[in-house]
Amino acid sequence: MHERERAGRATAFDGEAYQARFDALAAQGVDVHGEATFVLSFAPRTVLDAGCGTGRVAIELARRGVEVVGVDVDRSMLAEARSRGPGIRWVEADLAALELGRTFDVVVLAGNVPIFCPPGSRAALVGSCAAHVAPTGVLVAGFQLGRGYGLDEWDEACAAAGLQLDQRWSSWDREPFEPDRGYAVSVHRHREAARKAQAAVTSDS
Ligand SMILES: C[S@@+](CC[C@H](N)C(=O)[O-])C[C@H]1O[C@@H](n2cnc3c(N)ncnc32)[C@H](O)[C@@H]1O
Repeated sequence: MHERERAGRATAFDGEAYQARFDALAAQGVDVHGEATFVLSFAPRTVLDAGCGTGRVAIELARRGVEVVGVDVDRSMLAEARSRGPGIRWVEADLAALELGRTFDVVVLAGNVPIFCPPGSRAALVGSCAAHVAPTGVLVAGFQLGRGYGLDEWDEACAAAGLQLDQRWSSWDREPFEPDRGYAVSVHRHREAARKAQAAVTSDS
């Protein structure tokens, strides 16, 4: 990956090079839209692609009819997103301090976003992403394990933001979660919505 260390931010990216890797995989016939397919399984009308990078997830979701907003702090990544998805709303902002004044059916963090966020801002990042999840919506995050940030920390920050774990998988294809697989896709919901859903299941059975 073409990234350079830069003061004040965990990493800086080369958007063109980043996107080129995915374009090369797609040209070889690899399905590079696992994240978008996973997100679509929640049938969202609106999605916030948090840490959208070059917009590869948001652009695919928009292509499939979802209203999306992409947010990223990295100018090079966003420049690529803007040129590839000119009709989409792209916001240059630090997720840790994000206030869009609205919520989304799904807030998705694909591609190791918390790992690339400065450690001191990670709890705030989870808090503001959670604040953009609609009352019956979900927060979806996929990141590698063993890279200095773990699931305990993620779950703790989610709990502090009023969210609880709903599902956890080892891949975007919903392979059963096994810590040794080194990757986790986690889905959190607002605690109250999860409680109501559970109560409805119990009263139906
Ligand atoms: C590896 S890229 C993933 C990009 C995209 N989600 C994807 O799956 O292709 C991680 C992205 O997270 C962004 N990021 C990390 N911390 C951030 C923060 N605090 N605010 C906004 N963007 C952040 C980086 O700028 C980078 O574009």
